[in-house]
Amino acid sequence: MSYIERNGDELYVEGISCRQLAADYGTPLFAYSRASIEAAWKSFDAALGAALGAGSKSHLICYAMKANSNLAIINMLARLGSGFDIVSGGELQRVRAGGGDMAKVVFSGVGKSRSEMAMALEAGIRCFNIESTAEVEVLAEVAAAHGVVAPVSVRVNPDVDAMTHPYISTGLRDNKFGISVEQAEAAYRCIADKASLKAIGMDCHIGSQLTDISPYRSALQRLLLLCDKLEQQGINLHHLDLGGGQGIRYKDETTLDLNDWAQAMTDEIGTRELEIIVEPGRSIVGNAGVLLTQVNYLKHSDDKNFAVVDAAMNDLIRPALYSAWQDIVPVRQSSTQTRLYDVVGPVCESADFLGKDRQLGLTSGDLLAVLSAGAYAFCMSSNYNSRPRAAEVMVDGTNAYLIREREQIESLFASEKLLPA
Ligand code: LLP
Repeated sequence: MSYIERNGDELYVEGISCRQLAADYGTPLFAYSRASIEAAWKSFDAALGAALGAGSKSHLICYAMKANSNLAIINMLARLGSGFDIVSGGELQRVRAGGGDMAKVVFSGVGKSRSEMAMALEAGIRCFNIESTAEVEVLAEVAAAHGVVAPVSVRVNPDVDAMTHPYISTGLRDNKFGISVEQAEAAYRCIADKASLKAIGMDCHIGSQLTDISPYRSALQRLLLLCDKLEQQGINLHHLDLGGGQGIRYKDETTLDLNDWAQAMTDEIGTRELEIIVEPGRSIVGNAGVLLTQVNYLKHSDDKNFAVVDAAMNDLIRPALYSAWQDIVPVRQSSTQTRLYDVVGPVCESADFLGKDRQLGLTSGDLLAVLSAGAYAFCMSSNYNSRPRAAEVMVDGTNAYLIREREQIESLFASEKLLPA
């Protein structure tokens, strides 16, 4: 079921037309469907629940909030019982402000600072996903200074090719993430020697926008071999965190069937008594959002047509950064003659495009919707060219809620200071 679809000529997010949303809140505007986000989370939950069956094993979804960390979304997911995968002190505080349960928070990332570690220890998070042997030492010190035992998992870099864009591949030996299988064994022994650390899990995350189960399977097999080896040495883990990475359909990708994926994972795990944690981000929010933008100018030359819109690379950097393709559709179907357009923003960079070579029938003033803009969109936006960041709105049936006000220009430089005269 699609929560963002056309009804007659008009594009709708649930029960409200995009035209209405743009009129009420202005553009550029991110609009999300609550039902879509909740359905995606629930289908993940159901797939894992079904694959694990009625046995004693449990699972926990820790939404990777880097994909979209708006407090309203955190709060919606917390109400469903979600946990959260965080990567900074800022994200920790967002979980708190959004009403999330700290006991369901896992903390990933290669560069956790001492103060972030202290903050997370004080908050009582579920687990630190450790990414290097140097981090083992630092966390042991910080936990000892706090007089607590830190629960840890080692992020294993299984050296598998996730077959995705190189910038979002994370499980190859060359990537900065995690610890190789060989070194991980030593890291667990080192953790076992520290009174202020307790190894409770093992994790991995091999990349993002994955559309095939096989890299997950290869990664898991490598992790399980290591788990078994550790068990023989008396190191018994409680959970296995499989990371996120499940791809969504931007164009014509065949995405993973979550039930098949969950079944494949639980088949590999077999009778081992391990709780399963997952960290999906994109697959929960990606297709639940659109970026609405208005065409300000049409520019035609002999061999090129440009539609200059009011959203730019500062609002959505994925096309510029990864050459990512996101569909761009008119908010209202029109009979205007179509042409091949590059849809570009007002920022002074040639990389400032939302889409290239799009067949569209446009008139100045028209509204366009960039689809699949729920993940890695607003959260990666910036103030480049002193552009205030867009507003965000959550649609719930026929109600819309402003969940982030449009940024005011004054706030962009409110914390800046002039030099003394
Ligand atoms: N867990 C860890 C440790 C991660 O680093 C990530 C994403 C996730 C979970 C969630 O992965 P997902 O389910 O969303 O694929 N900005 C890029 C994507 C970067 C992903 C970074 N890590 C993009 O726009 O495609």
